[in-house]
Amino acid sequence: MFMFCLLCRLTIIVSQIFISLCEKNMNNLVLSLAPKFTKLQTLILRQGNTQLEDNAIETIANFCHDLQDLDLSRSFKLSDCSLYALAHGYPNLTKFNISGCTSFSDEALVYVTNFCQKLKILNLCGCVKAATDRALQAIGRNCNMLQTLNLGWCENVGDLGVMSLAYGCPDLRCLDLCGCVRITDNSVIALANECLHLKSLDLYYCRNITDRALYSLAHSRVKNKPSMWQSMKGRYDEEGLRSLNISQCTALTPSAVQALCDTFPALHTCSGRHSLVMSGCLNLTSVHCACAVRMNTIPHTAH
Ligand SMILES: *[C@@H]1O[C@H](CO)[C@@H](O)[C@H](O)[C@H]1NC(C)=O
Ligand SMILES: *[C@@H]1O[C@H](CO)[C@@H](O)[C@H](O)[C@H]1NC(C)=O
Ligand SMILES: *[C@@H]1O[C@H](CO)[C@@H](O)[C@H](O)[C@H]1NC(C)=O
Ligand SMILES: *[C@@H]1O[C@H](CO)[C@@H](O)[C@H](O)[C@H]1NC(C)=O
Ligand SMILES: *[C@@H]1O[C@H](CO)[C@@H](O)[C@H](O)[C@H]1NC(C)=O
Repeated sequence: MFMFCLLCRLTIIVSQIFISLCEKNMNNLVLSLAPKFTKLQTLILRQGNTQLEDNAIETIANFCHDLQDLDLSRSFKLSDCSLYALAHGYPNLTKFNISGCTSFSDEALVYVTNFCQKLKILNLCGCVKAATDRALQAIGRNCNMLQTLNLGWCENVGDLGVMSLAYGCPDLRCLDLCGCVRITDNSVIALANECLHLKSLDLYYCRNITDRALYSLAHSRVKNKPSMWQSMKGRYDEEGLRSLNISQCTALTPSAVQALCDTFPALHTCSGRHSLVMSGCLNLTSVHCACAVRMNTIPHTAH
């Protein structure tokens, strides 16, 4: 597999060849190289000081038809034209990272979901204009294979969007809702009921989350047990929440958090690597979430 990677220091990795170039040429470089790498599957164009422009993305869309993994994070100069150009070309795109691409609109993102229906990993962190309830409804309708979604700091996201996601994407495993200040218990309850493979959930600063949400997560586990025993014997420990960030969720009380800890053995507060993060919740100091014995069997969860 070709790996063609332009980081902010402009390091190009083509298979095993590493070339460093001056970053101010990034846009021109993409314009000249994209036509030569038509079999590219992974393209990481993470932005630094200089910024890609739409014509670079249009060239990529015209020449590199096999892309499955595309990272355009922090490309705030790109306009919706880039998304429209990309959408058509990539029915097989599985990983798409537009974290920090603040110019994209929800209309263009909706358009992308109509064409890229095989997305498994999508990073929309900070895409305040693009990540709206309308866009999440489109994701729930079109991208049913989605497993990992980052909606961090997308303050326009509300319950309607998250609930559509929960109903449309039953395979969701990792969801970052940090700073999604508008969501309430209804979002978490829908996730608990519909996304039975949920492993990692970030609710940092979601201050309207209450005990009701945590009890629904704990209850989902109980509901989920019988079928799990039938279908995946011996894999018990691999299912269930193993990472939860409820830092700054100040409405939570110890009994609800304790119930969650008791239900999900993978949640722990081992020093140095908490999988349950509750800093800033002064009322939760009495919660005892044991440091799991078999920590080495718990892999890091993706962000
Ligand atoms: C996406 O981009 C952000 C910002 O560059 C980065 O932190 C993250 O690791 C990238 N990958 C995924 C899968 O989100
Ligand atoms: C997408 O994947 C399918 C199945 O693997 C393949 O038949 C098709 O040619 C691919 N399409 C493109 C545009 O790569
Ligand atoms: C909890 O989530 C917030 C927002 O994602 C993050 O800044 C913080 O580092 C997280 N805490 C830990 C210990 O992972
Ligand atoms: C969140 O909580 C605040 C304070 O309790 C309340 O005023 C606000 O209406 C709540 N927001 C939503 C969306 O429920
Ligand atoms: C947290 O503790 C403070 C002080 O003990 C108390 O006034 C407040 O009601 C508590 N909040 C919750 C949500 O239990």
